[in-house]
Amino acid sequence: MLSEKYKQFAQMIVYQIYPRSFNDSNGDGIGDIRGIIEKLEYLNELGINAIWICPCYKSPNDDNGYDISDYYDIMDEFGTLDDIKELISEAHRREIKIIMDLVPNHTSTQHKWFIESKKSKDNYYSDFYYWFDEPANDWKSEFGGSAWEYCAERNQYYLHSYAVSQADLNWDNPKVVEEMQKVVDYWTALGVDGFRCDVIDQISKDFENGRNCFGPNLHKYINALFGRHETEKLFTVGECWAEDIEEFCRHAKEERKELTTLFQFDHIDCGRESKFVPKNDSLKSVRDILIKWQKLCYDNDLLYTLFSDNHDHSPFISRIGNDRELRYESACLIATMFYTLRGIPFIYQGQEIGTASSHYDSIDHFRDVESLNLYKIFSEQYGEEKALEMINFGSRDNERHPFSWNGGKYAGFSTAEPWIPLNSRFNEINLERDMLSQKSVFKYYKDLIALRKNSPEILFGDFEVLSKPQDNYFAFTRTYEGKTVTVICNFERPSQIALPSREGKLLLGNYSDRKGFSELFRPYEAAVYGDI
Ligand code: GLC
Ligand code: CA
Repeated sequence: MLSEKYKQFAQMIVYQIYPRSFNDSNGDGIGDIRGIIEKLEYLNELGINAIWICPCYKSPNDDNGYDISDYYDIMDEFGTLDDIKELISEAHRREIKIIMDLVPNHTSTQHKWFIESKKSKDNYYSDFYYWFDEPANDWKSEFGGSAWEYCAERNQYYLHSYAVSQADLNWDNPKVVEEMQKVVDYWTALGVDGFRCDVIDQISKDFENGRNCFGPNLHKYINALFGRHETEKLFTVGECWAEDIEEFCRHAKEERKELTTLFQFDHIDCGRESKFVPKNDSLKSVRDILIKWQKLCYDNDLLYTLFSDNHDHSPFISRIGNDRELRYESACLIATMFYTLRGIPFIYQGQEIGTASSHYDSIDHFRDVESLNLYKIFSEQYGEEKALEMINFGSRDNERHPFSWNGGKYAGFSTAEPWIPLNSRFNEINLERDMLSQKSVFKYYKDLIALRKNSPEILFGDFEVLSKPQDNYFAFTRTYEGKTVTVICNFERPSQIALPSREGKLLLGNYSDRKGFSELFRPYEAAVYGDI
C-alpha cells in the first residue's frame, strides 16, 4: 500500500520544459522564463500539475545549462531571479508545482570554485574537484574522448565525466557537500517544490572498481542533500540507474530519506548498445520492461516514473512508433501505454502534439556538444555520410528544436531566428494545426490526463496483466475498491483481442469509430474501458 505521502506524489503529472526551446518572450531567438510564464495557461489547459525546468542557472552553455557557473542566479538569456520568482508564484496560483533541475555532479570550469581550485594545490577550493598528476584511470567522457583533462595552470589533470568544461565535483570533500546543501536550501526557500537530480548516481565514484558512479558513499551523500528537508513536501527524482529492485529500494524507499523516485532507463535503452544506431526495438520489449518494473515497484510500495521521452533521446515515436501515416495513432498509443500505469507521468514538451524527429543534411544544423563531438569520432570511424545518418537518428537535438506553436515564420516560437534550427517537420506538426485537426494529439492528451486525475483506479489501483508475452498488444486492468479500468494497447499489427471479463464502457480511444468492445484492434489502437 502506498503511504499517504506517496499517494500525494502519485497524483502529479509533470511537464518537462527545455527552456531554451520552449517559448521566446523577447525576440532574441532564445526561449526564456517569461516565455514559460506566457504559456502557463496553455499548460493549465493541458491539465498538468507540475513543471520540471531543465537548468536555467548562470552558465556558459557548453552543455545548454548543465554546465553551471552560478547555482544562485539565472542565466542572462533566460531572465532574472525576479522572473523565476514570478514563475513560481504564477505557477502556484494555478496549483502547478515547480521542479528545478539540480546538477550536483559537476560545475562549469567557469564556476568560481573551479577557477580558484585550478590556481594551486593548497587553497580553500583545491580539493573541490578531482586532481591527479596523471590520469588516474582510463575513464572516458560521455561526450567522447578521455575523461581526464590536463590543466597547465595547476600542472595536473582533472576529471570531467561529460564535456571538458564540466568538471566533476569531489563529494568526498565535506565542503562540497555543505555547498550543495546550501543550494538546495536556497531554492526551497524560494518556494520550489522539488528537484530533478542530474546524474546523481555519479556523485560518489567507485575508483576501486573502476566505475565513475555508485561509489561507497552515494547514499550518505544523497541523504545529506535531502534528508534534512520535509520529505512530505519536497519531491525529488534522481536520474539514476537502478540495476535491480534492491538498488531502487536503497534510493527510493520512503524511510531512507533519499529520493522520492528515480528515472529508470531500461525501457529507453532496451539493451541498445548505442543510441545512434537503430535497433529493432519493439513495443513488446518495452511492454515487458514496464510490466517488470510495475510489479517490482508495486510489491515494494515504490513510486515509478512513467516517461517515454526527455531531452536526451530522440523521440520515442520516431524510434519505436510510426511517425508518418500513423503518427496520431502512435502518439496516443504511447501516451496510453505509459500514463495509465501506476507512477508519475512525465510529458516532454512537444509530445502532446506528436512531435517527431528532424532530418538535416549537414552537421551545421546541429548544436549539441555531444552530437558535435561524436560526429567527429564517427566520421573518422565510418565516414561522414554514415556519421551524419547516425547523428540524425540519435542526436539529442531531435528533442531540442523550438516548440512548434504554429506553422508561421519561426514556428511561433520567436520573432527572431532561433538559436537552433526549427524542427524540419514544423509545417506539418505544430500545435495550431494539431488543434484544428480531427485527430488532435493535444486533445487526446488532455482527455487522458483528465481521465487519470479523476480515476483512483488509474492512480492507485492494482495492476494485472491480461496479455501474454507472445501477444502483439499490451492489455491490463487497474482495480481499486472494487472498480476496474481495463486498458488495451495494440501494437503495429491488427490483433484479435478477446478479454476474459466484462470490460465496462469505453472511456477513451484513438480510433473515433470505436463504440464499445469489438475483438479486432487496428494498428496502434488504444482503448480504455471502465465503470466510471
Ligand atoms: C544528464 C542530462 C544531460 C546532460 C548530462 C550532463 O544526463 O540529462 O542533458 O548533458 O547529464 O549534465
Ligand atoms: Ca528570449
